[in-house]
Formats: sequence, C-alpha cells, structure tokens
Amino acid sequence: MNIAIAQSGGPTCAINASLVGVFRQALLTEEIDAVFGSINGIEGMISDELINLKSIIRTNEDMELLRQTPSTMLGSCRYKLPAYDTEPEIYVRILNTLTIHRIGVFLYIGGNDSMDTVVKLSKFLQDKGSDIRVIGVPKTIDNDLPITDHTPGFGSAVKYVAATVQEIIRDSSVYSIPSVTIVEIMGRHSGWLAASSCILRANGEEAPHLIYLPEASFSADRFIEDVRRQMAKHKAVVVAVSEGIAVEGTEPEEFQSGATDVFGHKYLSGVGKFLERLVAERIGCKVRSVELNVMQRCSSHLCAGTDIDEAERIGRHALRAALDGNSGKMMYFRRVSDMPYAVTIEMTDAANVANKEKKFPLKWIAPEQNQVTDAAISYFLPLVQGEVDIRMKNGMPVHFQRPLQMR
Ligand code: F6P
Repeated sequence: MNIAIAQSGGPTCAINASLVGVFRQALLTEEIDAVFGSINGIEGMISDELINLKSIIRTNEDMELLRQTPSTMLGSCRYKLPAYDTEPEIYVRILNTLTIHRIGVFLYIGGNDSMDTVVKLSKFLQDKGSDIRVIGVPKTIDNDLPITDHTPGFGSAVKYVAATVQEIIRDSSVYSIPSVTIVEIMGRHSGWLAASSCILRANGEEAPHLIYLPEASFSADRFIEDVRRQMAKHKAVVVAVSEGIAVEGTEPEEFQSGATDVFGHKYLSGVGKFLERLVAERIGCKVRSVELNVMQRCSSHLCAGTDIDEAERIGRHALRAALDGNSGKMMYFRRVSDMPYAVTIEMTDAANVANKEKKFPLKWIAPEQNQVTDAAISYFLPLVQGEVDIRMKNGMPVHFQRPLQMR
C-alpha cells in the first residue's frame, strides 16, 4: 500500500514537522511502500500531481532540516472542494489519482477549511464502498480550531509575536517624546495570537498596554480615550491589535484590503495603519504601526520546541489512526495539565471542526474590552517553551530546499 499527504491553507513553522512525523512513521511501517506528496494540497490530487517523497527526503539530516523549515514543503491551496452533487467529476478525478497510485491512506494537514475536505472526501469514499482512509492533521497560527486545546504552528507564532513585541517595546522607548506604537497581528476572526502577547507580563513587561481582539467590541472614540489614559502613565505606549477587529460605525472596506478568497474569507490587513492615522489626527503625537504580516507564521529561527515536537507527534499519530482503520477524523490535543504541561493526542470527527471557528474566550477579556486577563497566561506559556537547535550555515538558518521542479 502507498500513502499520500498534502498541506493546505496558510503556512506555519510547524506544518513541515507534521509531514516529517507522517513520513517517519511510514518508514517504520512495513506495509507502506511509497509516500506521495500531493502538490498544492488537494489540487494535486485532482490534477494527479504527486511526488514520491522518498526520492527527495533521503536522509535523517533531510528530515531534521525539513522540521526546521517554515512554510509548506508541498505547496498549499485555498481550494474548497465543491459538494459531490454539484461537481462529481472532481471526486472521480481524486479517486482516479488514489487508485492509479494504490493509495490506501490520505492525510490532510490543514485548518478548519481543510477539515471540510476531509469530511467530504471521506464520505465520498465511504459511499463508494472504498476502504481508503482520510485523516486530518490540524495546523494554523490562528489557533481557531474547535475541540483541540491548541493547533500546531500556534506556539511558534506566539513565541515570535511575543519576542518581537518585546523588541518593539525596547525600540519604542528610546526618545524623550511621547509615542504610540501599534502592532497588527494575524488571526483572522479570532484573537488568540494577538491576545498571546500578554505573556510578556510573565517576564515583567507592562506592555502591550492595550490589546484589542475581534471577540471584543471596539470603537474609535474609546480607543483614543484608552490611548490617552495610557499616555498619561507611559511615555511609550505599545498597542497590540488583531487584524480582524470590527470598528463600530466603520465599514471594514475603510481599513482592510478587501479582496476575498474562495472560502469567502477577506484578506485582512490594514487595521494598524487605520489606527495609526486615527492617533495622528486626534492626538497628534509620534505614532507608528507595524504589521507583523507573514513573518509571524514563517519565523522558524524562533520557533517553539514544544510546538515542533508536538507537530511531529500528531503527524505520527494520524498515520497510526488511519492504519487502525479510522477515516473522516481529525487528530487533536487534549490538555491534561498546565503545570507540569501534558497533552494527549486524541481523535474527533472532522465534521466537528470543519468550517467552524473557536473564538478567544470572553472570560479572558478584561471588562474594558482592551486587555487580556492574567488567567490566559497559564494557557499560553507552555506552548512557547523549548528551543530547536537550528542548523546554521554562513550565519543563517539552513532550510530544506525543494527540488527545482517543485518551485
Ligand atoms: O490561515 C492563517 C492566516 O495566516 C490568517 O492568520 C491570515 O488572515 C490568513 O492566513 C492570510 O491568508 P493568505 O496568506 O492566504 O493571504
């Protein structure tokens, strides 16, 4: 039997570690012959673009490099599998690819949209009487998947965001004049990642002085009042804002880029600049906005060891679950305790996760809607622990290089 694996959605620092987990487990499994990588997620299964991973990942050193390489080695997609009733031919093409290559297990690493693919494809195969199994492996820096305690990729993003905000705090406080620095953080419609900047308090930082999340209400007037209040106490005010906040009385088009992907998700970007203009106009002090942008999901030089280890482990478990006969499931983490930190890896129906979003808990948002409470810190802290001993060359991290034909 052969197996296939694909990566989907926005990249993370840990998504390749999950691929390595599946790959390593496959090497240990006698019944598995080839391990195919599908190029650009499910699109590669539709167009029969597969690569034999054993031909490009040859040594343990390759696997170690891949583990420390951000982004998706196999490429990615934002492709929504249509309903079987509307486009059955797409499913027939996927089945052809699976059959031609004797694939008995298909593993899909992705977020809530990708779990929609796991649900639809596994149901189609089951209805056909096929015993090909489809299992989802979670990932996303947004941490917005239900059921799972957290998602692979999130811990590394938290570590980068917190470390970078801390550096911004140092940089912003050098001059004698008052200033405001606004840091825009990814997360789409959930504020997990922006909220996580609160962990700096565990190291004695007071900033970010204000944290704004999509789960809280936000008005421009209240924001200006908040900033003024903080300026009365601090010379350099640092604000963390989630890209997906809704500004009362303002259309998103006034500050967000506006484009939409196939899932109907807006490409969110621009709220930091919007707030910067607001501060400049209404307060008139030195103000700067910083958009962390893609760096927060690809800065593997500062990834969290716990995150990378867990991502690999969950990949291994996913293959084992498939070989045990499961299909239409997603693997997830169940937290057993914060301290000492311990998780178990379990399995749920992918339908419980597909197209659903887990919001940042309201109980962890301060009543003023502009901060995160201390209770959230013990949730976040274990996820950023540990370092990866990054292999370096010429003073720079070494990345696993995809073969030329895949670039
Ligand atoms: O999927 C995670 C994510 O990084 C979100 O935080 C962000 O809003 C989105 O992807 C950006 O997507 P893309 O890279 O496709 O523009």
